[in-house]
Amino acid sequence: MELKACIENRFSLREYQPKAVEKETIIQLIEAARMAPSACNLQPWCFVVLTDPQQIAALGACYKREWIQSAPAVIVACGDHSVSWKRRADSKDHCDIDLAIAIEHICLTATGLGLGTCWVCNFDVAKCKAFLHLPDSVEPIALIPVGYPTTTEVAVKNRKPLEEIIRWNSF
Ligand SMILES: Cc1cc2nc3c(=O)[nH]c(=O)nc-3n(C[C@H](O)[C@H](O)[C@H](O)COP(=O)(O)O)c2cc1C
Repeated sequence: MELKACIENRFSLREYQPKAVEKETIIQLIEAARMAPSACNLQPWCFVVLTDPQQIAALGACYKREWIQSAPAVIVACGDHSVSWKRRADSKDHCDIDLAIAIEHICLTATGLGLGTCWVCNFDVAKCKAFLHLPDSVEPIALIPVGYPTTTEVAVKNRKPLEEIIRWNSF
């Protein structure tokens, strides 16, 4: 699928077929994340892949919505704040930005492969950190459930109109 189609067809999928996602496919997704740009090319990320239903059930303690349990795989995208670039002028940590790009590479690649995903950030970070035994500097940034959609319908995009978000030569 070309990039434009991936962008248009990606949507937050919250119901998955019970069909497993092949290991090679998951590797393709992480490879797409690996290719993402990052500030100073510091690549402050790692990706914990959960495919064991018991592990995904246990992750439910961090995100209590039932729907995530239908996902055959969940990628926990983690950012290492001890690695990420801090801008000298104001110490801004670019970890979240780097992870966001890598995560969206995963989501768009998944769409191109006929898979669905959903960004999930509204989870209990402390519980997730403990569950995965992550070191202090490593933060789970997003849970990304991955799986085959139960529908071929693409959800309607509810977006601000273009003219509302573009500023041509003025502020
Ligand atoms: C940073 C971020 C965090 C999000 N967190 C959640 C979440 O915790 N739970 C959820 O169901 N959806 C979450 N979403 C999905 C958004 O609700 C969704 O992207 C938005 O409504 C637009 O819909 P679409 O993805 O179908 O185009 C998140 C999306 C982003 C980008």
